[in-house]
Parts: sequence; structure tokens; C-alpha cells
Amino acid sequence: MRNDFIPQMEPWFDIEEKNALNRYMEEGGWLTEFRKTTDFENKISEYTGAKHCIVVNNGTISLTLMALAAGINAGDEVIVPNYTMIATPNSIKMIGAIPVFVDVEKETLCMDIAKIDKVITKKTKAIILVTANGRYPKAGIEAFSKLAKERNLILLEDSAQSLGSFYPNKKHQGTVGMAGSFSFSAPKVISTGQGGAIITNNDELAGKIRKLKDFGRSGGGNDVHDTIGYNFKFTDIQAVIGIEQIKKLNWRINRKKEILLKYKEKLRGLNEISFFDQDLEYTTPWFIDILANKRDDLMLYLKEKGIGSRPMYPPINEQLAYNTEGTYPISRMIGGKGLWLPSSSQLTDSNISIIAQKIIDFYK
Ligand SMILES: Cc1ncc(COP(=O)(O)O)c(C=O)c1O
Repeated sequence: MRNDFIPQMEPWFDIEEKNALNRYMEEGGWLTEFRKTTDFENKISEYTGAKHCIVVNNGTISLTLMALAAGINAGDEVIVPNYTMIATPNSIKMIGAIPVFVDVEKETLCMDIAKIDKVITKKTKAIILVTANGRYPKAGIEAFSKLAKERNLILLEDSAQSLGSFYPNKKHQGTVGMAGSFSFSAPKVISTGQGGAIITNNDELAGKIRKLKDFGRSGGGNDVHDTIGYNFKFTDIQAVIGIEQIKKLNWRINRKKEILLKYKEKLRGLNEISFFDQDLEYTTPWFIDILANKRDDLMLYLKEKGIGSRPMYPPINEQLAYNTEGTYPISRMIGGKGLWLPSSSQLTDSNISIIAQKIIDFYK
């Protein structure tokens, strides 16, 4: 962590990743995905308890591929939250499907199940639940599975922000729907620079995804193609880094939880800000998210004091890329007041004390 500026987030690689990469290069690896990639996939499967893990080049393509493999086609409607990273709707737009937005719960930032029913039409094919910041919806994941089953919809999980987060039934997020998707982009709890993964217990789906990411080959390494596929492969270079990062996952998960507790302790009693619910027994806060009065002024003040922060996602329907009508009071409110505070695992307690004091000073 730099001393002159505390960034909102920073990836964390050190000597172990460097040494592992050196060893790999000296041993003459092929760089493209091969044994190290399989090792990395196995480690994600083992950690999440999913039968299959398929890694791809990022956590947007992982969403697109799981949707394609699940049978989502052009013209199908897919229900997504109106508060999420834009990749969630964009991933299915890429295959011509139509995202339909539903507002989120103010406590959890996950899709509000009570608002789903009225947007279901004959064209609705799937629901993508985003486990926002590792949180799960108040009604529980079981209620989403039940609804999907009753309405004959596919349930997919965008768990990009959820490595290290479980449901209270002890299942890792991403393992309950037909498939779940993760991202290993720079700000995630562990990172491979770019990278994504799909986890599933469904053998057929896993097979389809493996073919989709590898040109639709009928078998490993041949040039016989019985289906259309693309090239969304990973590299062993990234896998070497990922394998080292996974060794640090448990420590980082604990540290993220401590960081949230420390912020809460230091900011207790400050009425100008509020925290969302976070179940620290089962879930891991990826980012420290708050609602802040005079959010934009606070951000500028913190920047002047050498502290980075970032506005939370604007409501998707109001982004020019979508620009659709609708009433989404919660995602709208988050777009106006939501703020991510510095959240890297490498933040020290003393960093947090300084940040909290500056926030208190601002409101004085
Ligand atoms: C909820 C969500 N979905 C998808 C993505 C996209 O992942 P990637 O950046 O790896 O494409 C992200 C990235 O932050 C995300 O937060």
C-alpha cells in the first residue's frame, strides 16, 4: 500500500507469484492453457464444492457462455437486477437476448424476489441472480430456486463478486443455480489480471461450455468440429498466478471481514453514512460499500486528503447504453448515495483509522 495515496482498490501479487512464474518459464511451459489451467480449475472446484469448473478469459464471457450453453437464445428475455455491474446485462445482449430489469433490496443489493413475478412473460427464459458483494437475497436462495422451478425458468448466478461467500445452507454462492460465474479481474479477492470461471454440477452443461470456449472441437486438440465454438481460452501464465493467489484466499477472506468490522467500529454513531447488511458468518465483503449523504462532495474531499473512493454502480436502466423506462427506487438511490471506500485486503488498521477520521472530519 502506498503511503501518499490510499487507493479504493489494488490487486495484490508478491514474491510467490513472481517465483512461480519464473519456475514455470524455466520449465518451458506452452503459456496457453494446459496443465496449470486444469490445476487452477480443480482448485476452484474443490474450494466451491462444484463438480466442474471451466475457466475462460474474463467474467463477462463466462456469463455469456453459461447463458449460451443453458439454451438462452436471441429474443429470449432474461431477468437481471437493475443494480449490478453492466457486464451482467451486456453478457446476454451479446447473444441477442433481452435483459429485463428488476429492482434490488435495500438491505442486500440483491434482486427483490417480490418484484420478479410481474415482469415474467411468455418470452422469459432465465433469471440471473447477482450475489452482490457476496450477499444473498433476504428470501434465501431456496426461494429463487423454487420460483425458477415453478415458472419453468433457468436460474443462473452471477457470483463475480462472491468468491469466499456462501449461502446459510453452507453451499458456495454460484453452486445452486444451473451454473455460476466468477471473475478474477484486478479488483477481485483473488486475481489473474483478467479471468473468469463457470462452475456447475451439470455434466452436459460443462461439456457444452468446454466446446464453446475451444472452437467447438469434437475432441481435445483435433480439428473436427461438430458444433460452433469460439476461442475464449485462459492461459497457463494466468493459472500459475491464480494457483498462488488461491493459497492466500482464506487469509484475504478473514482480512476483508476484519476490515469491514474495523470501518464499522470507527464510524459508529456517524448518522451521515450507513452500512448495508452483511452476514459475516457466511459471506465475505468484496468491497466496503456505504450510503453517504453528500456522496460526491465526500469523494472529492477524500481525494484531496489522498484517499480513493468510487461511486457504486448507477441504475442500469438509466445508463445511456440501455436508457429504458421503469421505476427502480432502490437502485436509483444507490446510484446517488452509494460509495465504495478503500477495500483492498492489504489495507492496514492504521489506514482504516485515517480514512474513518477524514470521513468524520468532512461531516463536521
Ligand atoms: C457482478 C459482476 N458481473 C460480471 C463482472 C464482469 O467480470 P469481468 O470484469 O471479469 O469481465 C463483474 C466485474 O466486476 C461483476 O462485478
